[in-house]
Amino acid sequence: AMAGEGGAKHILCTGGAGYIGSHTVVHLLKAGYRVSILDNLSNASLKVKERLKQITGEDVPLFTTDTIDTDALLKLFKEQKFDGVIHYAALKAVGESVAMPLEYYTNNVSGTLTLLKVMREAGCKVLVFSSSATVYAPKETPLTEQDALGPSNPYGWTKFMIEQILQDLYKSDPSWKISILRYFNPVGAHPSGRIGESPSQPNNLLPYIQQVAVGRRPQLSVFGNDYNTPDGTGVRDYLHVEDLAEGHIAALTKLFQGDPCCITHNLGTGKGVSVLEMVDSFEKASGVKIPYKIEARRAGDLATVVADPSKANKELNWTAKRTIQEACANAWKWQSTNPYGYEDAPPQK
Ligand code: WQD
Repeated sequence: AMAGEGGAKHILCTGGAGYIGSHTVVHLLKAGYRVSILDNLSNASLKVKERLKQITGEDVPLFTTDTIDTDALLKLFKEQKFDGVIHYAALKAVGESVAMPLEYYTNNVSGTLTLLKVMREAGCKVLVFSSSATVYAPKETPLTEQDALGPSNPYGWTKFMIEQILQDLYKSDPSWKISILRYFNPVGAHPSGRIGESPSQPNNLLPYIQQVAVGRRPQLSVFGNDYNTPDGTGVRDYLHVEDLAEGHIAALTKLFQGDPCCITHNLGTGKGVSVLEMVDSFEKASGVKIPYKIEARRAGDLATVVADPSKANKELNWTAKRTIQEACANAWKWQSTNPYGYEDAPPQK
């Protein structure tokens, strides 16, 4: 347990009712932290609270204040006395960010600025920030943290700008402890099948495959099979969401035990998996055939995006250990027992 002066350290997870946030909450509790969630539920369900109770036995406080609301946020920080914050809350649909850049810059960048000012006012200067591989400039070989940055969509730019804000904040006040985690492609679900990814309109590969498997979508569109990859389809670094959650615990431990810092790490497996390999793996895990059709490439997609995770392996003493097969089996258990995610029935047309 992370017993500090007054018992377990209290962590606020913004966006903690979401896919990655909820899985990290489970592991934070397991690691002995006290946890509260801040989530405006714009892309998450209140049901997650009861599901977390089923898994952990804990009643995790859920505050629905918005990170835009400075006064409400300051009141919360004064009352709750957080020892640290993990900041997941963000809009994250790449295509949507191209269509609605102002909403993405407001929610993601202004929301983070408000949060940081409130944290400073409340004297809470330990932060883990959920960033993304999407900040990198296109590169076909494994990406290291030293590689060139160059987002290609407003969503990616919001993550890039927040990373810059955090670096400047630390330079201005080196009493901050900041960990920037660049996620590659999170997949899978908690083995209980009680929490998982629940997008109404899936953009990412595995949630789409999951919805085909439960009959909510007729078939998978494979966006291009003429890439310069072994089977011609896109290759990505798919990371089990539980490994990702454990990466956050590793980062927090380093912050609480170490000196003030602003550090950046890739969270990935270092292994590339193609679209067709993922389809094959899911079919084996679920026993369900996934019909697919080869379509045109999706604008902005690269052939290969894979992490070099060696810096995190060494400095955070963290290595992804779950397999793609496990991720597919966990994802299938989640989707097959919750065909409409956290909704009870098909969303009303
Ligand atoms: C993976 C592969 C597609 C859907 C995105 C964001 C990134 C991050 C993770 C937030 C690609 C192919 C996909 C489908 C397909 N999100 N595909 N049919 O694009 O690597 O990364 O999600 O931080 O910011 O960019 O993930 O799951 O969309 O695509 O063929 O229906 O699957 O072409 O090769 P991506 P993805």
